[in-house]
Amino acid sequence: MRILVTGATGTLGGGLLPALLRAGHQVRALSRKERESSGRIEWVWGDLISGKGVADAVHGVDAIAHLATSGPKGRGAVDVPGTHRLLLAARRARVPHLLYTSVVGVDRAAIGHLRHKLEAERLIGESGIGWTVLRATRYQQSLDQRLRAHSAFPVMLVDRSLPWQPVHTGEVATLAASLLASGPEGREYEFGGPEVMNTEDLVRTWLEARNVRRPCLPVHYPGRLYAAQRDGELTTDADSRGIISWRDYLHPAPPALSDDFASEHTASPTSPANQPENDPDLHVYGGDEGYERPTRS
Ligand SMILES: NC(=O)c1ccc[n+]([C@@H]2O[C@H](COP(=O)([O-])OP(=O)(O)OC[C@H]3O[C@@H](n4cnc5c(N)ncnc54)[C@H](OP(=O)(O)O)[C@@H]3O)[C@@H](O)[C@H]2O)c1
Repeated sequence: MRILVTGATGTLGGGLLPALLRAGHQVRALSRKERESSGRIEWVWGDLISGKGVADAVHGVDAIAHLATSGPKGRGAVDVPGTHRLLLAARRARVPHLLYTSVVGVDRAAIGHLRHKLEAERLIGESGIGWTVLRATRYQQSLDQRLRAHSAFPVMLVDRSLPWQPVHTGEVATLAASLLASGPEGREYEFGGPEVMNTEDLVRTWLEARNVRRPCLPVHYPGRLYAAQRDGELTTDADSRGIISWRDYLHPAPPALSDDFASEHTASPTSPANQPENDPDLHVYGGDEGYERPTRS
């Protein structure tokens, strides 16, 4: 299939493009920046707010993965009027399927940014185009960026009463790719991370993994959206969940080794591979002779 991805340069887009390529699709990726096309990725310029480039972008595609967002500070400009423009163009081009990425809890707590996401879901449902909605919990990658920004301050403000369920964008992307392959279902899916944790666990795990020292000051985050989160409205107990935990994400395993490399490096101390005369580094540096172990100054 040829699939248009809006928001292709974003946090989730970075996981979805490789997932679609692995599944054998052609990808058309939309961005407001000019980029070079290469291989099976065709980059097209377009802006969902002005509408420029959108008609060309949807032309001849079999499905659209609509990820673009103006985020919590963007007053829904991409999510609502931008989605509306995309739907008009997609209907004219007779695109059979649009998958929209939304947020767990939009139906229970349509507050602030989530109100715009819910409105976009409504437009999509009424558009006459085949659709699927994938609602996910907060992305691990985006929480990581947010905590990095917070750590610029001398203390971390921590509201222990809030539950979080961070999910890995790679897993959201894999699910999105399989929903695109199975075609429009006219329903919403919820997908969250494998565990629910409070802000203190979230922040302390991050501080330890990133080797950052900051005191954590207990506070109460104000506002209706945090109140809804406190009540568990932004987490999901859907059966379908990711398996990559927050800790796994922050401490990724080293890349898998090839069989040859692994057997050589896990051989017993007496195996030929581990004898000093077979170690090229020892020959280069003359073995232990003259070698000084680095010490702390
Ligand atoms: N972040 C989370 O934790 C989270 C959790 C659940 C669901 N979601 C949803 O998942 C989707 C992807 O989120 P994300 O965090 O990956 O987004 P992101 O990193 O904030 O990226 C936003 C994307 O939107 C595009 N965009 C912004 N304004 C645009 C415009 N006027 N015209 C065309 N494209 C525009 C940007 O592309 P260019 O700058 O290249 O034009 C960029 O690729 C969104 O629907 C979001 O609501 C996010």
